[in-house]
Formats: sequence, structure tokens, C-alpha cells
Amino acid sequence: MSCPHNNYRAMEDDIHTDFKDDMSYGDYLKLNQVLTAQQPLSYQHDEMLFIVIHQASELWLKLAGHELSSAVKNIQEGDFGHGFKVISRVKQILNQLTQSWNILSTLTPVDYLKFRDALGHSSGFQSYGYRKVEFLLGNKNASLLKVHESDPVVHQELKVILDAPSLYDVTLKVLHDNGLSIDADVLSRDFSQAYQSNDSVLQAWLSVYQNADEHFQLYELAEKLIDIEDSFQQWRFKHMYTVQRIIGNKMGTGGSTGVGFLKKALDISFFPELFELRTHL
Ligand code: HEM
Repeated sequence: MSCPHNNYRAMEDDIHTDFKDDMSYGDYLKLNQVLTAQQPLSYQHDEMLFIVIHQASELWLKLAGHELSSAVKNIQEGDFGHGFKVISRVKQILNQLTQSWNILSTLTPVDYLKFRDALGHSSGFQSYGYRKVEFLLGNKNASLLKVHESDPVVHQELKVILDAPSLYDVTLKVLHDNGLSIDADVLSRDFSQAYQSNDSVLQAWLSVYQNADEHFQLYELAEKLIDIEDSFQQWRFKHMYTVQRIIGNKMGTGGSTGVGFLKKALDISFFPELFELRTHL
């Protein structure tokens, strides 16, 4: 008979316990691969935290990239329902990623310095999962492919995403398809180049916001994109701030000026006119 106070949960007879010839939880998730990939190069206690935060972030970035590829396709096909669903998920993934800085902030500068040399020139700057997400959202920069030249498969994957329309590019096409006038050179632009703010796009968004009832889906899409940029900027800011807290103004292991370089990323907007329009409403 069960007793609520014995602090013990009995096994149930039907619980599966024999996995000799049956697929277990660990088999399905390949946990023997995932959980043996944490291999510190130093004997310092905190290197494990450093590795786990990065690996966990890479998994979330992988999922964000997977979802964003689908969002681009959904919006391209005019399937707003599925597009909105995955964009909402991406926002939560980004928020989850931002949360992880609070754990990393428990790493003190002194403790980090104990194993920093072991990292060599490796840096998150070389994260292809992150670059994929930036490119999918629309922060295109061909020169960033260079660090991936030693891995032709990754390089090719990123090149395809660099050359393809971003989430914002497909959104602008949808504006045009909905009768809003967008300059032809915006629609046929070289997608591998950084997106430049454009007046016809600003006017189109202004019209969407001023006639929200008429263009409700576009209005909703715009606000979902704002959500994504908001969450993404919070990740960028917390990264920069955590880095400042841990290494001050030292150079990055990747060779950049460090915090100064990360601060410049905060000026990059995926959807510039969506912010500009607010001034003009
Ligand atoms: C002690 C912790 C960390 C420090 C000191 C640090 C420092 C830096 C620095 C200085 C850069 C600029 C490039 C360079 O010169 O290396 C950078 C870039 C980057 N880091 Fe970190 N980082 C830390 C943790 C993380 C974590 C946990 C992630 C998660 C994936 C991450 C992802 C990135 C990414 C994606 C970039 C490129 C950003 C961009 O292109 O704007 N970093 N990091």
C-alpha cells in the first residue's frame, strides 16, 4: 500500500528494464556521444562549465537554425500560420540562450585565466551554428566565411545560406506581393551583401502599421520580427557584457579587439525599417 510519508517511490511491474535488445533513452539520444564530448584541456574545475555552456548553446543554435530555415520557407510560400509558429519558437530559444549568460557570469576573471591559454585561437567567432542564424535572419557578411575555409562542408553550407534570401528578404517579397510598392532593386538585390535600409520599404511598413486592420497578417509578422531582433540583441548585449566582466578590454582568443568588436555588433539591425518606422508614426 502506498504511504505518502515514506519518502520512497516503488517501481511498477510494467516499467521496462531490459534494454539488451531494445532501444533505450540513451541509445535514441546518442548520449554516449553527447556526454563524452566534454573533454577539458586543463585540470581546472571551471573549464567544465565553459565547455558545457558552449556546447549547450551550440545545440540551441542548431535548433534555431533549423527553425529559421523553415520560417524562411513558410513565409516564402505565404504560409503565415506555420511561419508564425516557428518564429515564436525561435524567440523562446534566443531567450533561453540569453539566460545562459547568468550561469557563465559565475566564472570569475581569475578562474577563467587559469585555463584561457588552453583555448589557443579558438573562439565563438568561429561558430558556424551562430553564423548560420545571423545569415538566415539577414546579417550577411561574406568576409566571415573565411574562418570556415578549412572545413569545406561547413563552408559550402554557409555559402548557400549567404547567397539565398534571408527571412527579411522573403518578407519584403511578401510585402510586394500584397500590393505594397517595393523598389525593384531591393527585390532583385545580391542577397550575399549586407542589407541597406530603403525608403520604399520604410513607406510600405508605414502603410502596414497605419492600416493594420487591412494588413493584419503583415502587421503581425512585423511584430514577430521585432520580437526576434529584441531577443537577439539581448543575447548580443549579455555576451558583450559578460565578456567585459570576465576579460575587461583584453583581446579575444579569436584575434579581435574583444569587447570593442562585440559592441559594434549591437549597431547591426536585421530589420532596420521596422525600427525606423516607429519614429514616423
Ligand atoms: C568566458 C566566456 C567568453 C568570452 C571571454 C568570450 C569572448 C568573445 C570575444 C572576445 C569575441 C570576439 C571574437 C574574438 O576575438 O574572439 C567573441 C565572439 C563570439 N562569441 Fe564569445 N565569449 C565567451 C563565451 C561565449 C559563449 C558561451 C558563446 C556561446 C556560443 C559565445 C559565442 C560567441 C560568438 C557567436 C561570437 C561571434 C560574435 C559576432 O560575430 O558578433 N561566446 N567571444
